[in-house]
Amino acid sequence: MPAPRRHRPRPSTASGLFQVLSWPRPGGVIVSLAGAALVFSAALNFAPVKADPWTTFFEEWTTTNAASASVQPPATPTAGSGAPAPATASASPAQPDATPTAAAATSAQPVAGAGADSAIQGLAAAGTTGVGDPALLDIGNAASPLVLVNKQRPLVPADFAPSDLVTPAVQSGSAEPMLLRAEAAAELERMFTDAAAEGVSISLKSSYRSYDTQFSVYNGYVATKGVAAADTTSARPGYSEHQSGLAVDIGDANAGTACDFNSCFADTAAAQWVAEHGADYGYIVRYQPGQEPMTGYLPEPWHLRFVGPAVAKEMAVRGYHSYEEFLDISGAPDY
Ligand code: DAL
Ligand code: ZN
Repeated sequence: MPAPRRHRPRPSTASGLFQVLSWPRPGGVIVSLAGAALVFSAALNFAPVKADPWTTFFEEWTTTNAASASVQPPATPTAGSGAPAPATASASPAQPDATPTAAAATSAQPVAGAGADSAIQGLAAAGTTGVGDPALLDIGNAASPLVLVNKQRPLVPADFAPSDLVTPAVQSGSAEPMLLRAEAAAELERMFTDAAAEGVSISLKSSYRSYDTQFSVYNGYVATKGVAAADTTSARPGYSEHQSGLAVDIGDANAGTACDFNSCFADTAAAQWVAEHGADYGYIVRYQPGQEPMTGYLPEPWHLRFVGPAVAKEMAVRGYHSYEEFLDISGAPDY
């Protein structure tokens, strides 16, 4: 078990290199796609297969303008099974769902899938993970607030959808519908309210994203940046924490939108407030500077993951910078 360390998210010295992480808004995706496809049509190795608006546009465009181009979908491997990702999303989870971190008594049993000597097992042995349902003491259970999702650990099933999604009553900074799992939403409301009381105006930029939505988001990045760059900033469908209903992207309403989804967001009051206080509400900054070999992604000071207050506080107190390390799980730099 690692020695206790201080937890202080810090700006990345390399963060200036990554100023291009702007979010693909629908209009921007379409415009960017057209430009990118014009330039790279012969080399693009991608074609969405779903009938969402963006896909429809792409298919119409390629039919009209690039009939001779050879386009194939990007690889979306399913770690472990080797099976292809499903073609369609389902609204029904295949596993039992539950309120993530009920205040009810916690089962004193090991957390399945986590390392035997990992820090989380200390909480488990003491019965203080905050997770009462024994079936949810499993980092492979998509319905668990403890679920680990990364490039080596897709949601199972890949088209998982939570059953307790609600709309959090918080300031939105986006036109997209906002949904989160019930307890994550309640804690988010508390967090935004407490931040506002200290003059920090946090806005919600993105929340639950279905398999289909993540498909469109990821392929928007692929169209504009290519697969390699897309994979540093966007999860493939079935591999995003947003699909768990436990992740949010935030903005700073007082700072404007210039640093939204950008490395300079780390300098905003909102980013610094959540880095210091997020654990009190069960949220961790999931993709921290210097953690790319573990998480697989460039730093995202705007992306928060709900793991419950007990786990988040333990990670903060003990100075862990990645959920993988806290679980004593190998890093997931690649698919
Ligand atoms: N930006 C994070 C990695 C996601 O797409 O889930
Ligand atoms: Zn995110």
